Amino acid sequence: MQQPSRTVTSNQPGTHPALTRKVARHLKQTWQRPLAAHSQRAFAGCAEKAASWPGPVILDAGCGTGASSLQLAMDNPQALVLGVDKSAARLGRGVVDARPENLLLLRADLVDFWRLAQAAGWQLARHCVFYPNPWPKPGHLGRRWHAHPVFPTLLALGGELELRTNWETYAREWQQALTLHGRAAALDSLDAGRSVTVVSPFERKYLASGQRCWRVRACAPPADAGGC
Ligand SMILES: C[S@@+](CC[C@H](N)C(=O)[O-])C[C@H]1O[C@@H](n2cnc3c(N)ncnc32)[C@H](O)[C@@H]1O
Repeated sequence: MQQPSRTVTSNQPGTHPALTRKVARHLKQTWQRPLAAHSQRAFAGCAEKAASWPGPVILDAGCGTGASSLQLAMDNPQALVLGVDKSAARLGRGVVDARPENLLLLRADLVDFWRLAQAAGWQLARHCVFYPNPWPKPGHLGRRWHAHPVFPTLLALGGELELRTNWETYAREWQQALTLHGRAAALDSLDAGRSVTVVSPFERKYLASGQRCWRVRACAPPADAGGC
């Protein structure tokens, strides 16, 4: 029997007081960390397919086993769905058989992948960040994606953006960071009492444990052709 999932515990009582300062700093500076050679190879492996794909591109960032990526690919047959995760073990446990033609799962570090995608001029139709690691200690603020120097790059890729998390503070901080970037975003909660289409294995396990999950959705930026 599966053990119930623990809720996120933190000694940070609400959104982090340093978040605004950090996001503002990252808005002013371009992050310069060198790109790893293995990330460049991984990106090159999918860039050709993305460039020749006639339809939109959806990125499932931190896809874990790729179960959510597979669902996105089946729901959006015209789109190329890229599931990216740094864990070979998780990807290895995922969908291997009968992978649809519009699904590509690859192992890469997102901090490099996002920058390579931006440098290649990618514009996504949809960008999913489902259940990122919460990093709940206050001292780990800079490891949360919205407080990380790569966040401006993540946003520059455009598209409808959706975050899901089981830590309300993460969702509220994500929304705050988006606001600081001039992106309006709607926050709501998903819980077992509501009819929810489960998007990923982590979401399934949290909801099965009776936890509340949170979703933050932002429409594509006005410059994009899309919208929501
Ligand atoms: C909590 S799991 C969620 C997995 C999946 N999205 C789900 O909802 O079932 C977070 C995932 O993010 C991946 N991850 C964390 N940091 C990453 C990074 N820098 N680059 C790529 N993947 C990363 C981890 O390997 C892990 O699979």
